[in-house]
Amino acid sequence: MSERVIPLIDERQRKIGSHVPVIPAQLLNPDGLLADQRGRSLHDLRISVTDRCNFRCTYCMPKEVFDKDYPYLAHSDLLNFEEITRLAKIYIEHGVEKIRLTGGEPLLRKHVEKLIEMLAVLKTRSGKPLDLTLTTNGSLLRKKAQSLKDAGLSRLTVSLDGIDDHIFRQMNDVDFPVADVLDGIEAAREAGFENIKVNMVVKKNCNDQEIIPMASYFRNTGVTLRFIEFMDVGASNGWNMSEVVPSAEVIKKIHEVFPLTNIDPNYPGEVAERWRYVDGSGEVGVISSVTQAFCKDCSRARLSTEGKMYLCLFATEGHDLKALLREGRTDLEISNAIAQVWSHRVDRYSELRGSPELANKAKVEMSYIGG
Ligand code: GTP
Ligand code: 5AD
Ligand code: SF4
Ligand code: SF4
Repeated sequence: MSERVIPLIDERQRKIGSHVPVIPAQLLNPDGLLADQRGRSLHDLRISVTDRCNFRCTYCMPKEVFDKDYPYLAHSDLLNFEEITRLAKIYIEHGVEKIRLTGGEPLLRKHVEKLIEMLAVLKTRSGKPLDLTLTTNGSLLRKKAQSLKDAGLSRLTVSLDGIDDHIFRQMNDVDFPVADVLDGIEAAREAGFENIKVNMVVKKNCNDQEIIPMASYFRNTGVTLRFIEFMDVGASNGWNMSEVVPSAEVIKKIHEVFPLTNIDPNYPGEVAERWRYVDGSGEVGVISSVTQAFCKDCSRARLSTEGKMYLCLFATEGHDLKALLREGRTDLEISNAIAQVWSHRVDRYSELRGSPELANKAKVEMSYIGG
């Protein structure tokens, strides 16, 4: 494994800024047609329900930083389920149709099924059920898959960085066996989840030898495997461009063994580019936020565990919605504050990566803001 350079700083020590959004003087009813400064709508809300995780993936929560002294959020700082649901309803009125629960590891949040029940009954502006999904490391799936399904979760994405037990244990850095995650995926299937996705972050000289074994394992299973380029999120993962495996290389590698053909996105602005096995054994995807930024269509807002709204995965500033909730603002006031924040949005970090205007800016950690 290559040497890691871990700066001993995190987003709170670097004091990522946040401010309480301004409530505009004139309050308007939401019409579902919000647009930011680049004409991008608000379609997708990613809610982090805990900043904790039982894994220590080296690219996300390296042990050296996320140790026993790490200042995780206190329970009283977290949004409670009523607060999350109230904000979700307000976002839906602005046009959100898809909600993803993330973490940290979202299944570590106590009674998360209760939250899912509360969100699953919400309808989009056009009266359709929400696309309600969750990203998990799979470690607790055997225990929780059925209760998640019963609570009304529509879909599930499992993070899995290798199929070889030794490599997987190295990637999660807590010696967690791959068999238990695979069993968790099986449990999800037994519980009735369809269209399960598996996300693999590819890091050169760490797990790139797992590309073909992962593709072989998940062909013919109905699971969609997606390869993610290792990104420079946060301040802790010692990112280096030389450790990124471009998606084009991933596709080329697989194509040489299992021929692939490119297919259309499921919907405009889909993060993953899709490829189908020519022999009909399923599909794979690639998520290329380093080599082919997809900011142009980015309609994702993020809500941190403590109720701050972030406009980008690489944001340097949060908008404190919890403050508005806890100072007794009305739904209409909060709705207008969110509209104001979104309508000023200019973020497009991946398109600007490496440019001088971004140099030395502190960024939030992915475990805090959600993947
Ligand atoms: P599906 O609708 O299930 O396809 O989900 P999705 O396309 O939103 O993808 P998912 O939530 O599974 O995200 C997969 C990975 O893509 C994340 O873990 C991130 O690594 C990356 N990703 C997702 N959204 C963004 C984004 O807005 N910006 C960047 N740079 N990366 C993102
Ligand atoms: N680069 C790419 N993806 C990342 N994730 C976390 N950190 C990174 C990173 N540095 C994503 C992975 C993981 C999810 C929780 O977040 O997809 O599965
Ligand atoms: Fe946990 Fe997922 Fe981060 Fe790994 S990538 S440390 S499983 S939140
Ligand atoms: Fe959206 Fe920011 Fe990711 Fe670009 S880098 S796609 S703006 S979250």
